[in-house]
Amino acid sequence: MNKDEALKDFMKRIDHYKETYESLNENKETLLSFMKIFNAGAKVLVHRHEGHIQSRIVYYLMNIHITPRSIYLTRHGESNFNLQGRIGGDAELSERGWEYSRALAKFIVDQKIPRLRVWTSQLHRTIQTASGIEAPQERWKALNEIDAGICEEMTYEDIQEKFPEEFAARDQNKFHYRYPRGESYEDLVARLEPVIMELERQENVLVVAHQAVLRCLLAYFMDKNSEELPYLRVPLHTVIKLTPVAYGCEMKLFKLAIDAVDTHREKPMNCCKSRSTEEALMTVPLHF
Ligand code: F6P
Repeated sequence: MNKDEALKDFMKRIDHYKETYESLNENKETLLSFMKIFNAGAKVLVHRHEGHIQSRIVYYLMNIHITPRSIYLTRHGESNFNLQGRIGGDAELSERGWEYSRALAKFIVDQKIPRLRVWTSQLHRTIQTASGIEAPQERWKALNEIDAGICEEMTYEDIQEKFPEEFAARDQNKFHYRYPRGESYEDLVARLEPVIMELERQENVLVVAHQAVLRCLLAYFMDKNSEELPYLRVPLHTVIKLTPVAYGCEMKLFKLAIDAVDTHREKPMNCCKSRSTEEALMTVPLHF
């Protein structure tokens, strides 16, 4: 459809709305609590604001926009800890991880993304992964990997052996389970709220982060629930491109051709077979 036709169609749609709806008016509806957004956010009116939930809704609606853009998510390249099966820590990239870093820089050039911004965590492995990308970069502490507390730098086998009860408790309820002196996925979701809000404000952004962190961001954008969130597949050496469309996000995966270990640990229950990222993402909505 050309621009003029699209505009005509849109105005017709508004006329249809006018037959059914009536504009709220702060002089007539003096007692009602409501918000008006003019011209896709150019001006905002908040009338008779009431309480915490409403102020959060106002804050959220003031931060979203409708400009077309994409958000690119990737984990860091394979790290030396990934090779050893250790979680957490602040390890450097493996040789293959560095290869991914170079391949990622080339992939980003090939995509020709206008005004791209790059966000990484403050850990070596994400900073090293993004080091070859020519774009403004920011480091976010909020993007650091889930804090595994007393289990940091251990393998899953070490944890099962040393802290069998903790290990079993995490499998029972992975979203709410909090590592002793560490974090839960629920904590992580709260920690990521400012990142999500800033992502909503931005245009094209590449986020280079970690397995658990990216699961939370994916769950937000792909509308996944808290049971599915900790098991979403976010493989190494893969770029996930999210493009907001009407009522959701379109997802495209780019697997760059560099081998890496698989760090995904499936839910140990007979109900769950191994799924691809697309399959795992095509499920029930998320309610934090
Ligand atoms: O194994 C890589 C890693 O990023 C760890 O640092 C982190 O603890 C883990 O993944 C998170 O995944 P899960 O919640 O499945 O253990």
